Amino acid sequence: MSTVFATTGFAAPERGPGAFNAKVAADYVRARVGAQMRTPVCGIVLGSGLGGLADCIAETVRIPFSHVPGFPTATVSGHAGQLIVGTLADRPVVALAGRFHMYEGHSAALAAFPVRVLHALGAPVYIASNAAGGVRRTFAPGDLMVIADHLNLMFRSPLAGPLEPSDERFPDMSEPYDRALRTLLHDAGHSVGVSLQDGIYCGLLGPAYETPAEVRMLERLGVDAVGMSTVPEVIVARALGMRVAAVSCITNKAAGMSHEMLNHADVMDVGKAVAKRFEALITEFVRCLPTPASL
Ligand code: HPA
Repeated sequence: MSTVFATTGFAAPERGPGAFNAKVAADYVRARVGAQMRTPVCGIVLGSGLGGLADCIAETVRIPFSHVPGFPTATVSGHAGQLIVGTLADRPVVALAGRFHMYEGHSAALAAFPVRVLHALGAPVYIASNAAGGVRRTFAPGDLMVIADHLNLMFRSPLAGPLEPSDERFPDMSEPYDRALRTLLHDAGHSVGVSLQDGIYCGLLGPAYETPAEVRMLERLGVDAVGMSTVPEVIVARALGMRVAAVSCITNKAAGMSHEMLNHADVMDVGKAVAKRFEALITEFVRCLPTPASL
């Protein structure tokens, strides 16, 4: 879509999925929620099969993605496509059940747009979750991995293009996944009896799963888990100065690491099987998050 100037016939692009439209979306969410709206302690994106956490959120206002200005409708099965405002462990949160992937044809900027909306709603912390294939040989389906760092093999940046007023032009990425929040995740896991391992996540474009040769390459590059999301979101979160925590649910051994074929239905099933542990972990983590003022 574009605006055509009558005098010149020049077509200027409409404002894309940047800071301006994020404010429009956040204003819409605030208006929908009304007086009950509080500044969230964090924004959470729920990955494939992990949407059950949405049912742990109390005092909810649920807004379909299709109502949120600037959001496309989610197209992947297993993604409900709802923005949920409410409380988790009695603390205000905003969660997104569903996300936008680059493999759906979205730009990296659009894939990361929901994080801009979470930021515009005041969330100082971004919690990402995803389903991922285990590249580390000792990973088994159902394991939960705290993302310690990532490799961007999507070869696109959501920050490419004109600088958004809210962004840093050259954000530091030496600690994209906040060290203190990672410790907090481990502490929360300990409290609720959920074991966690740290690892490196690699984002690929997809939508085809990797070949065994690609997985062997990733292993040599030091990758522990591979998926098709999260990286653009985390880059934008860092450019906005948000602190990031992220968890991968290992839904399968990556291609060639077992004799199983890969399919999305199995990925969803493992996500659902691990859901209770994931929910307990994130609920405890949110309970322990520092108050925004002390972040
Ligand atoms: N590869 C990429 N993405 C994934 C996988 C995988 O093996 N499992 C779940 N998401």
